[in-house]
Amino acid sequence: MSSTGLILAVESSCDETAAAVVERGARTRSSVIASQIATHARYGGVVPELASREHLRAVVPVVRAALDQAGIGFQDLDAVAVTSGPGLAGALLVGISYAKALTLALGKPLVAVNHLEGHIHAVLLHEREAALAAGLPDPADEPALALVVSGGHTHLYLARPANSNWRYKLVGRTVDDAAGEAYDKVAKLLGLGYPGGPWIDSLSRFGNPKAVQFAFSQIKTKLHLGGKPPRTKAARTAPIADLDPRFLFSFSGIKTAVLRYVELHEMRAEAQARAALTLAHPQPCQSREAALELCPQPVLDLIASFQRAVVGDLMKKTFAAAEALGAKRILVTGGVAANRELRTRLTAEATRRGIHAAFPATALSTDNAAMIGAAAWPRFLAGEFAPADLSADPALALGA
Ligand code: KG4
Ligand code: ZN
Repeated sequence: MSSTGLILAVESSCDETAAAVVERGARTRSSVIASQIATHARYGGVVPELASREHLRAVVPVVRAALDQAGIGFQDLDAVAVTSGPGLAGALLVGISYAKALTLALGKPLVAVNHLEGHIHAVLLHEREAALAAGLPDPADEPALALVVSGGHTHLYLARPANSNWRYKLVGRTVDDAAGEAYDKVAKLLGLGYPGGPWIDSLSRFGNPKAVQFAFSQIKTKLHLGGKPPRTKAARTAPIADLDPRFLFSFSGIKTAVLRYVELHEMRAEAQARAALTLAHPQPCQSREAALELCPQPVLDLIASFQRAVVGDLMKKTFAAAEALGAKRILVTGGVAANRELRTRLTAEATRRGIHAAFPATALSTDNAAMIGAAAWPRFLAGEFAPADLSADPALALGA
């Protein structure tokens, strides 16, 4: 059968069961996401056992919906792609087992995709789709500095097109928490809903970002754990000793600083009362009235100051790396890339420096399978197929 260019992608690394059909890495034919937010919200974080159970329930209907929405059947596919890591072992295994069984039954190749590579391709997919919509040719693949900033990662990569595929080099990373993790923990501390990013993002518009001064200090690589990989959930992979300390992030300090501020200003009891309200009201506040009903002005000021500091630190290190590496293109991706302040400020600074900054469509910033289908296409063209014994790799690293 001739090539259709159609890849079915399955993503189940964390708390979204997603399936998508993507054509030649450039056009999303369908993208279906079954979110587990409601399941995990009451625990204020993802519960791995519950995540696996929900993936098991959702994977078959989600794939069926993705094929239906694309108007195709299994036989029309060139290949199936699946996220093989990093992520939660039990969660990843659901997608992998399903995709393996499917490719075996169909006699089609399986492509394994690194979740972080998927996030990077979310931006490339968005750029191709925007070009297509404007009647322009596909943008050329060019080297770029990629900031992957999510609930599990805050990593900087140099991404380079190599033959028909892409190669990645790690240039910076968090030594402890990921930025999204800091958003989630600070939101929990303040009695906001889960996940915390969208809550802080929407409420920060109504606060004074200069009210509280948060400082980020420079990390000393050689001193920090003797250069060994950190043992946190966010950053288990690859040593840090070889990385330039100017490109290292750390978000556990700001979380503690917020905690101290909350205790010092006796905001604790009020935050606990708010937690009951946000659980019953799962949508972040969009108006000043709604924001003020939920949070007194000093809390809104604290939220705005936290966001200002995190966005500032992400920008500072990303632009330092771009300058040192001579990057003329920055791709920002992962859940935190949905953040409005990060989008506006980083884009403005990039323009000032003559750098092209690109983000995925907001819906493609957080976890989805379209990005996995896009990342799989160059691997499919290069004949890089998954081995028959493919398994989940919860700490899978990207690049060197
Ligand atoms: O990429 P993602 O869906 O999952 C991971 O791979 O981690 O990212 C989820 C993270 C969560 O920490 C969430 O709070 C954060 O992205 N997030 C945001 C926003 N939307 C989601 N953080 C800041 N601002 C947002 N608008
Ligand atoms: Zn992700």
